[in-house]
Amino acid sequence: MRLIRLAKETDFDGWRAAARTLRLAGVLPRKVAWTVAGSEVDLAFPEGRAPEDAAAGPPGVGEGAFKVPRAFAELAADVALHRAPDRFALLYRMLFRLAQNGRLMEDASDSDVIRARQMAAAVREATRRMVDEVVPRPIAGAAGVHIAWHAPAHRVAERAAPALTARYPHLAFSVLTPEVGLHWDMAVLRTGAGARLGDNPSEAALDDHWRKRCASFFPPAPVISSREMKAAIRGSRDGPYERGAPASLAEVAAGIDSCRRCDLWRGACRGLAGEGPPHAPVMLVGEQPADADDQAGRPFVGAAGALLDRALGEAGLDRGQVFLSNAIRHFKHERRGTRRLQRTPTLQEVEACRWWLDAERRLVQPKVVVALGATAAQAVFGKPLPVVSSRGEVRSLGGRARGLVTFHPAFVLRLPEERVRTETLAALVSDLRTARRLGEKTAGD
Ligand code: URA
Repeated sequence: MRLIRLAKETDFDGWRAAARTLRLAGVLPRKVAWTVAGSEVDLAFPEGRAPEDAAAGPPGVGEGAFKVPRAFAELAADVALHRAPDRFALLYRMLFRLAQNGRLMEDASDSDVIRARQMAAAVREATRRMVDEVVPRPIAGAAGVHIAWHAPAHRVAERAAPALTARYPHLAFSVLTPEVGLHWDMAVLRTGAGARLGDNPSEAALDDHWRKRCASFFPPAPVISSREMKAAIRGSRDGPYERGAPASLAEVAAGIDSCRRCDLWRGACRGLAGEGPPHAPVMLVGEQPADADDQAGRPFVGAAGALLDRALGEAGLDRGQVFLSNAIRHFKHERRGTRRLQRTPTLQEVEACRWWLDAERRLVQPKVVVALGATAAQAVFGKPLPVVSSRGEVRSLGGRARGLVTFHPAFVLRLPEERVRTETLAALVSDLRTARRLGEKTAGD
C-alpha cells in the first residue's frame, strides 16, 4: 500500500502530480491511500508507514505524457474541493479506469461517474451560495473595514474569491471561513488563516450578522414548557410510523429527514440516511453524524471518516462498495457559545432510531453488518456489547446475515498513546477484513 500525503485539503496540483506518476507506474487504485498533511488522521499516525511526498512518486518512474479528457480534468478540479474524505481516491480510480476505457466519462450509468458528477454539482452549488450569501458588513469602530463570516458546505472559499472581489471591487473586506480567510484591499487578494466564529475581534458585530443570516440553518430549539404538550407530542409521534415500513431507500431518507420519534431533530440541520450501493454486501454502522456531517449532509465526512477510509483501504474495501449508516440520524449536541459539542445518545434515542436502521437492513440485505463502537452495537444487536472484549467475533443476525462489532474510528483517533492507537487501528482493519471476507461469501457458504 502506498500512502500519498498531499500538502493541504485542496491540494489539487499535488494530487495531479502524484496521480500522474502512480498511473504511469500502473499502481492499482486499491494499493494507494491518500492523506493530507496536518489532518487529524495524519497527525495521529506520524510513525505509521512512511507517507510518500505527493510530488516524489514511486522510484524509477520518469515523467511521461498522457492525456485525460477535458471533461474529466474539469470535473476533477471541482471534486477535489468536496469534503468527502475519499475524493482523491475516487479521482485516482477514475483516472486509472480511463486508461482502460477512454469513454468512461460518457457512461452516465457508471457509479463513479455518477458520484463524481454529484460531488462536482455540490461544489458548484456551495460556490454559488457563498458568492450569493456573503455580504461584508462594516465593523463598528473600524472605519472602512468590512467583514463577513461564512461556513461553506465544501472547501470553495478560494474558488469563490474572484467573484467576491469582482462584486465588491471598491470595498476593503475580509471574508472569514473556518478554514481560510480571504482579505481584499481593493488591489490584491490575500489568503490567511481561517477563523472560528467568535475569534474575530469585533465578535459582537460578526455574531449578530451571523445569527441573522444563518437563523434558519440552526433553528433555535423551541421551548416546550408544559408537561401536557410534551405528553401530547410523545403520544402522537409514533402515529405515522405505525402505518407501515418504508418500501425504498428513498422513502427511508425522506422519513429520516422528517423523523420526530425523538427530540434530536430540533437542533440538527437535517436527518441523515445511510449511503452506498442499494445491495451492498457490507453495511457499516457508526454512532451519529458529526457536526461536519450534519452540515454537509453526508455521513463520515470529517476526521473519523478519513480514518475509516484509510482502514477500509487497508482491509481491501472502499467506501463506494459499502453501505455506510448510523445508529442515530440527527446530530446530538450541546451548544457552547458558537460551538456544537457532540453528545452521546441515550438508550431511548438509540431505540427510537432503530426503526430506520432496521428498514435499511431489510432493504439492503447486507451479508454482514459491522457496528463501529458501543452505540452502534446496541442498535445492531439490540443489546449492549463490550467493544474491547467482543470485537471481531462473528455473530448471527438472523437468516444468513452476520454481524460484528469493532472500534469506532473516532475512538482510535482520540487514543492518547501512539502505540495503542496503531494497535487499535490494526484491530479495526483486521475486523474490516473479516467483514470483507464474509461479504464475499456467496449464499449457502
Ligand atoms: N460520522 C458519522 O456519520 N458517524 C459517526 O459515527 C461518526 C462520524
